[in-house]
Amino acid sequence: MDRLTPRQRQVLAWLGLPRWVPRQAPTGAEPEPAAPAPAEVAPLPVADAAPAGGASLAEVVAAAEEVPALDWPGLHAAIAACERCGLCRDRQRAVPGEGNRQAELLVVGEAPGAADEQAGRPFAGPSGRLLERMLAAIELSREQVWLTNAVKCRPPEQRRPAAEEVAACRPWLQRELALVAPRAVLVLGGVAAQSLLARDEPVSELRGRQRLPGDGAPPVVVSWHPAYLLRRPADKRGAWADLKQVMELLRDERRP
Ligand code: URA
Repeated sequence: MDRLTPRQRQVLAWLGLPRWVPRQAPTGAEPEPAAPAPAEVAPLPVADAAPAGGASLAEVVAAAEEVPALDWPGLHAAIAACERCGLCRDRQRAVPGEGNRQAELLVVGEAPGAADEQAGRPFAGPSGRLLERMLAAIELSREQVWLTNAVKCRPPEQRRPAAEEVAACRPWLQRELALVAPRAVLVLGGVAAQSLLARDEPVSELRGRQRLPGDGAPPVVVSWHPAYLLRRPADKRGAWADLKQVMELLRDERRP
């Protein structure tokens, strides 16, 4: 039985990807393949304590080595006012995450580009259009997921964010994770992996399922960044394998 909708078929054809064949339930004859061992990752600092009473937003932002217990409006105000790294000097505006605040899947990219900064939304340009097609292939829309970046301000001249910039922005990403509490996280590219997993190996070595530190932390799948896939379409096949892992994780996590 062909369980693909016409839209999915179109998406997969556009991506140049093979059809998704749902995994069969185990028959008992063949053991399930063992899950890969969780990667060892350094614990990230997490502090959910509210900022000291009466602290100004500027103080909260400046002191955010740990994650302040901001609510959504507080988080977005803090991101908009953030001066934790030099990227604030040349930005038109910071670009916060967007989407479904109760999303099952949180998607993390690198940093906004010029089109995203102008639109004030993550993934507003060409790589966003590819990302939308990738999500559609696993039956998700960008409105259904929480879509954000490791770094919320545009680095000049399309350069990769520096490690200090990634570290400075990490508390905001951690707070988004805590507020959304997704069932799974899709990490797109090396910068997002550096921020969330504290790993700086190439994506080719990190791809697939990883684990965030901490009890109850959601499972993570690392994959290629869509901008990379636009340059290297041959790797879409690998990205599709990663997306199928996301789909299976979401399905597994929904099981009682
Ligand atoms: N736009 C974003 O918002 N993030 C990326 O990583 C790339 C483009």
